[in-house]
Amino acid sequence: MTSSLRSLDHIKSPVTAELDRFAGFFKQAMRSNVKLVDTVARYIVKQKGKRIRPILVFLAAKTCGGVSESTYRGATLVEILHTATLVHDDVVDDAETRRGLASINAVWKNKIAVLMGDYLLSTGLMVALRHDDFFFLKATSDAVRRMAEGEMLQIQKSKDLDIDEETYLKIISNKTASLLSTCTEIGAASITDDAGIRSAMKEFGQNLGMAFQIRDDMLDLTSRSSILGKPVGGDIKEKKMTLPLIHALKAAPAKEAKAVVRLIKKGAEKKEIAEIVAFIERYDGLTYSANRAREFAEQARLCLVRFPESDAKQSLLDFVEFVVRRDK
Ligand code: IPE
Ligand code: IPE
Ligand code: MG
Ligand code: MG
Repeated sequence: MTSSLRSLDHIKSPVTAELDRFAGFFKQAMRSNVKLVDTVARYIVKQKGKRIRPILVFLAAKTCGGVSESTYRGATLVEILHTATLVHDDVVDDAETRRGLASINAVWKNKIAVLMGDYLLSTGLMVALRHDDFFFLKATSDAVRRMAEGEMLQIQKSKDLDIDEETYLKIISNKTASLLSTCTEIGAASITDDAGIRSAMKEFGQNLGMAFQIRDDMLDLTSRSSILGKPVGGDIKEKKMTLPLIHALKAAPAKEAKAVVRLIKKGAEKKEIAEIVAFIERYDGLTYSANRAREFAEQARLCLVRFPESDAKQSLLDFVEFVVRRDK
């Protein structure tokens, strides 16, 4: 059964005051005395994302009992790390837009984007160090390492285009679910020492993250860049095999599948990408992926059963639905 779809604004309503205060911390943490760093940082603050990760940190903390000072540091830390990985990701993917604006690499070139990403990564980790939040440091360092590993595995696989569903799931677990599970784990850890509660929240974020990236990969095939604020069709162009394609290739007759792989290897442009999307639809790649995303969503919901009812918990449940049905 599907519940009604709530907007992100509605979902974040139990933590709007916290998010406002977070915005100040975030901006402050990015300041630098070096003019070029400060200029790029200001541009990044303007290039506002959905703020999904801080929202998750606050909602998870509230679901576990309440928000503390360390919850703010956790939220600031994860959003800075996320931003750092996006700045690097756009270099890796050669992407020209992000969040509806030109990407850092498009405005200032790769050199500056690489260094700015490094600056942000270390700035994020220092937010944790400054207050001896060692648990945060441990959780996020592990997530960042997994993200890089996931991106590398993706590149490795794009060479031979032989990726199966299991490998795909490993890639997205590393590159996306790792950080989302860190968000909910950190939220819980900022308010309780209970290991069972922390791990239930982490598990929730893990499953949510899997669903989130599967949906993201579907949107890359079906959405428009004017809605997403970032390029679409990029995955095929970059020879990234995502779940809809992986499934279609397996479901299609070998001969047809081979022809599609050849097309991708050759370097598909706009017209070919449209053909490949039609191929994916023909072999139910999108429906299959939507169902897989729903399965992870269901697992995520189950992780919340142990928590008492609250507005924050309801928002986490609504978040799950948002993730599998979002169009941006
Ligand atoms: C983009 O994440 C990177 C992925 C894991 C797909 P978001 O969709 O949360 O990006 P912003 O922060 O809203 O731009
Ligand atoms: C997102 O990967 C970057 C990380 C999760 C590290 P993608 O390349 O798939 O995401 P978008 O589409 O650029 O946001
Ligand atoms: Mg990318
Ligand atoms: Mg993508």
